[in-house]
Amino acid sequence: MSDTACLQVLHTQIDLDSWHAGEPGTVAFVPTMGALHAGHLALVRRARDLADRVIVSIFVNPLQFSAGEDFDSYPRTLDADVAALRDVADAVFAPAISDVYPDGDPRGVPQYAAGPVGETFEGVSRPGHFDGMLTVVARLLDMVKPDVAVFGQKDAQQVFLVRHLIDEHFDTVSLEVVPTVREADGLAMSSRNRYLSAEERSHALVLSRALRLASTDPTTALAQMRALIEAEPEVNISYVDAVDASTFRSVAPVDRGVDRVAPGTTLTYIVAALVGTTRLLDTVDVTT
Ligand code: PAF
Repeated sequence: MSDTACLQVLHTQIDLDSWHAGEPGTVAFVPTMGALHAGHLALVRRARDLADRVIVSIFVNPLQFSAGEDFDSYPRTLDADVAALRDVADAVFAPAISDVYPDGDPRGVPQYAAGPVGETFEGVSRPGHFDGMLTVVARLLDMVKPDVAVFGQKDAQQVFLVRHLIDEHFDTVSLEVVPTVREADGLAMSSRNRYLSAEERSHALVLSRALRLASTDPTTALAQMRALIEAEPEVNISYVDAVDASTFRSVAPVDRGVDRVAPGTTLTYIVAALVGTTRLLDTVDVTT
């Protein structure tokens, strides 16, 4: 970003098109729902290394929230987000719902289905979440037309599905995945951390502590992780598992014992839990 460049705030496809026309060069894109924290800023810094210009979207996508979830209360902090991006990005794309979905109707854009992987793990308690997420990511890629899209590893299932979306439908876009950014005490950064009370936050640390037990032997590691988390009374596990990173299928189905894990396999350990009423995710990769 040149010294004289200043952050542009764009809202519509027309704004995006004139931003593209204004300056040649490659574009890196960081899609977000706002409420930015240091984890997002790490994505933006990585984006800066990868392209001439960086654009960050801020859009709370109604299509990926189920009834009863926190769509209405999801933190919307546009002024603070724009301020945080002022020196690190070239543009913010902050559309209204009707700029993304014609007439505000999500059915007006091509729909993408996450398939069987979308029904596991996060998809069990959030039916339709991944279809809505893929649909908006595809829509944003169509609108922003980046050369590279940058995502955080923390949402491992999302990253797996976005990788397939990009491989299958966006051959001019490459995907960059950035490691999870953690607080000094290990808590994975998340916009939802702000919902935690001080006490809940200290209970939530058990998730990153558990993931430090990840090893190349998922049988032992998963048992230890589960025991550790279950010993924390305020933390209710949704799942703790190890999946093959290339398929996102569990390598440790409880009903038939652990499958053989071939040497060189990357295992993605995933954990999700409710801490109070806040749902938190964390993940770590281990190569056997
Ligand atoms: O990870 C998120 O913040 C959202 O799922 C995304 C990728 C911005 C799509 O709404």
